[in-house]
This record gives sequence, C-alpha cells and structure tokens, in this order.
Amino acid sequence: MHYFEYKNGQLFAEDISVEELVKEFDTPVYIYSARTFRRHFEAFDSAFAGIDHLTCYSVKANSNLCVLKMLSEMGSGMDIVSGGELFRVLKAGVDPQKIVYSGVGKKDHEIREAILSDILMFNVESRQELEKINQVAAEMDSTARISLRINPDVDPKTHPYISTGLKKNKFGLDLEQAMDSYMLAKQLSNIEPVGIDCHIGSQLTSIDPFIEALDRIMKFQSKLTDLGIDIRYLDLGGGLGITYDEEQPPHPVEFGQAIKEKLKGTDLTLILEPGRVIAGNSGILVTRVLYTKKTPSKNFIIVDAAMNDLVRPSLYGSFHRIACVHEKNGPDCVADIVGPICETGDFLAQDRKIREVGQNELLAVFSAGAYGFTMSSQYNSRPRGAEVIVDGTKFTLARRREVYFDLLDLEEQCF
Ligand code: LLP
Repeated sequence: MHYFEYKNGQLFAEDISVEELVKEFDTPVYIYSARTFRRHFEAFDSAFAGIDHLTCYSVKANSNLCVLKMLSEMGSGMDIVSGGELFRVLKAGVDPQKIVYSGVGKKDHEIREAILSDILMFNVESRQELEKINQVAAEMDSTARISLRINPDVDPKTHPYISTGLKKNKFGLDLEQAMDSYMLAKQLSNIEPVGIDCHIGSQLTSIDPFIEALDRIMKFQSKLTDLGIDIRYLDLGGGLGITYDEEQPPHPVEFGQAIKEKLKGTDLTLILEPGRVIAGNSGILVTRVLYTKKTPSKNFIIVDAAMNDLVRPSLYGSFHRIACVHEKNGPDCVADIVGPICETGDFLAQDRKIREVGQNELLAVFSAGAYGFTMSSQYNSRPRGAEVIVDGTKFTLARRREVYFDLLDLEEQCF
C-alpha cells in the first residue's frame, strides 16, 4: 500500500503531481511519501500491540534526516550500524534509550560514542568485539548493555547477498560460541548482558524462517535463565519483505500474530528492526528519458538515472516496477532501461515490457524508498540527485541535488 497513484493519467505523490515536483527539482529525483511512511510504521508497530515491544527502524534502509525525524516523532526507536548512523539519529532527536547498535565491525571510537550517548544496547557479533566493548567501557568508567547476536543457521530463502543467518555467513555467533560468550559477558565487569539478538536476512516472503529462528533463540534463552543470565530483551531483527513484483509477503498483522503467539507467557521485551517494510514502497525514483536506440538485438531506453543512483538491479538483479509518469495509449516494446554509466551492468531493468517512450518522457521507478539513496554513490563523477518529501499538499526538499563542487569538496590540491 502506498500513495503514489495515477489521477487523470498523471502520476501523483499524494496530492502533488510528479511532473510539478520534477519542474521544481529536476531529475533524477527521489520522491518520498510521508503519509506512506507513517502508514507503514503504524501498521507494523500496531501489529505487536498487546506485548512489550520496541520497533527500531533500521536506519540503513533510508537515513534521510526528515525520515528519521518523522519516524522518531511517531515513537520509533532506531537500529544503527555505524557511528555515522548514530550521529544522524541523535541529530534527528531520537531518544538514546531507543537505539540498538548492530554490525560485525564496530571501531573503538564508534563504541565510545555509543557508550557516551547511553544507547539501549550493543548487538555484539563476536567474542573479540565483546572484549573490546568491555575494554572501552572500562576506560570510560562505564558499563555497556549488550545482547549477543545469535546465528541460528536458518535459511531465509532470499538473495544470497542478503541472507545473514546461515552458518557460513559472517554474522553473529553459533549457539555453542554464544554460550561461551554469555558466560564471559557475565564475568566482565563493564558489561551487562541484557538481551539476545538475531537477524536472519532481508526481503523474506514467508514467516516460517522467522519462527524457526525464534524457536531456536527461545530454547537457548531458557538455558541462559537456568545458568543465571537474565535476559530482558529479545531482538528479532528486521527482514520482512515487500512486493516489488509479484511477491506476496505476509502482512505485518499476520507476522505480528505469529510472533506474539510464540512469546505468550514470557516477560521479554520484543525488539524489531524493520527497514524495507517501512521505507521500500514509500519512495520512487523519477528519471528522464535521454535517448532511445534500437540495435539489431535489443531496444535500449537510456535514462538519466544510473546504477550510482539505484544499484539494486545491478547488484542483486532486483526487479523494480517502472512506469511512465504520464499514462498514454501507445504500442508496447521490450527494452533494457539503462543509465549513462560506462558498464554493461548499469541497468534499471532488462527485457522489460513498457510503452514505447520518446525523448524527455519521465519514468517512475517504484519501490525505491529503501536501499535506494542510501546505497547511491558518485561513480562516474555523477552528482547525486535530490530527495524530496511530500506530505499531503505540501512538499519539501529533504536533500539538495549535489553540484560539481560537491564532487571535489573533500579532495586536496595535490603537490
Ligand atoms: N537489522 C539488521 C541487523 C540488518 O542487517 C538489517 C538489514 C535490518 C535490520 C533491516 O532489514 P530489512 O527489514 O530492511 O530487511 N541492500 C539490500 C538489503 C541489505 C539489508 C542489510 N541488513 C537490498 O537492497 O536489498
């Protein structure tokens, strides 16, 4: 469900026509719908009503300050994975007691900053990291709350690059190692073990792997209780999928019910880290057709957005629905929709059926609100496009378009 709809043959973001936004901000441009963000957060969070829980939006999906502020004002906590994300969420006014910090490679200064900010907890991914956090906390004369990230060895049945809970993945600790690390954590004087954590992958379209992981974690947690380690938080990570094409992921209500059923009778506070399910369908990327060309083997539609703007199709072979901003009758064609970057891997879609388009027509790439702008780069010295946020009849620039000077801003005059 989202608020990007056609009215009289014109694509609108809520109450504003996309064409009007393009007149103001040019292309390529990311357009976000505030109403969709709010609706998705509300739908997800309320699915867990009735049990103690904290929804920590996963910042990596879309870290624009306006987005973070909006979600924070709705009571969202944040799942962060770097000092940079901590900086962002604090700037957005997020309550540190609603911040969880995941990731396999936290640096000393990042750990220090998080302890100084008094975040809710670190999700720790290795024994050495646990020892490091203890050392940094000791130097600061402080105590760090932690949970250990368990790798439950469950197949999330998603793209291999975004599967994280398999034995062969770099994430978390297997059950045996986790037990040793909890015993160590109990003894470390500047560590307070308060939680247990897992995140098995992203874009999951079935509930079963979540339940399998939860079963393993809860069994493990009861062993911890027997050993005198009292856990307050159970963090189930993120990962709930969305519809890009024809996927039929479970609705958050169904997901919530299945999890709530499992947690009945425990006094654990559930933490969730949804990213894509909140942000994915809350944004589109709008691009302009530069040229079309027919070769003996293919039709190409060359547009002004490229893999530096949206890398998902190139990196994961992901499908994003692409449609004309102006609906018109006309013959369809099958074409590759490609950007100006000098790589064959630079495409937004391959062999896609689309109405025949002409130069200067606008195309909307849907489901681009998560892992779109956050994964963008300046590859080929292409300044990044603007981000705009619409709320009903109002809109605002959420990040200005980069200019050539932004390309050189951090570089030194050599020699
Ligand atoms: N928590 C942790 C520890 C994570 O690593 C992630 C995502 C999430 C939560 C949020 O997962 P979500 O609810 O968004 O599925 N760039 C890829 C996705 C990478 C996901 C990485 N971790 C893509 O474009 O599909």
